[in-house]
Amino acid sequence: MGGWPVDAVGPEAARRLSHLHEACFPQGEAWSAPNMRNLLAMPGCCAWVVATDDGLAGMVIARKALDEAEILTICVAPDYRRRGVAQSLIERMSESMKCAKVERIFLEVRADNAAARSLYAAAGYNRCGFRANYYSDGGNAIVMCANLSDSL
Ligand SMILES: CC(C)(COP(=O)(O)OP(=O)(O)OC[C@H]1O[C@@H](n2cnc3c(N)ncnc32)[C@H](O)[C@@H]1OP(=O)(O)O)[C@@H](O)C(=O)NCCC(=O)NCCS
Repeated sequence: MGGWPVDAVGPEAARRLSHLHEACFPQGEAWSAPNMRNLLAMPGCCAWVVATDDGLAGMVIARKALDEAEILTICVAPDYRRRGVAQSLIERMSESMKCAKVERIFLEVRADNAAARSLYAAAGYNRCGFRANYYSDGGNAIVMCANLSDSL
């Protein structure tokens, strides 16, 4: 699986990214276009997308700081799920980070988000922490980490 073409995008894609985010996350959790634009203008922030004739099928945003990086968000349009889009996004993001001398990538995932936890485990991420009541609704977060030297 995987094998989807992935493109790097910048702040100019903020509206399209926000549109996809709204389709993937509950109301109130989606990031607006202005927030997305500000985020992508920050040093070290990068976004990658899988684009189709229908619009964006998937996106990932990550931030690099020295030799570490963090996945800030990843999502795939409902019609494109379980077809390897997220896997392609993570592979491309990881390659770029490795080229930029990043050694470890971290992320937080809701403890009850089974799909995302499976995705990250399949991509080589291991549990490395737990944050109780991390989300505004009281949900817990699992911290996961991948060593790029192990995975590529
Ligand atoms: C999580 C998400 C990004 C996965 O995207 P996707 O493109 O469907 O994932 P892929 O097709 O690349 O899946 C790769 C692997 O991840 C795991 N996986 C993905 N979705 C899964 C699911 N619903 N249930 C179980 N495992 C799943 C599987 O191991 C899968 O490989 P397989 O299909 O060969 O079994 C997508 O479901 C999504 O956008 N969810 C809503 C937003 C979200 O929760 N984002 C994560 C926030 S931390």
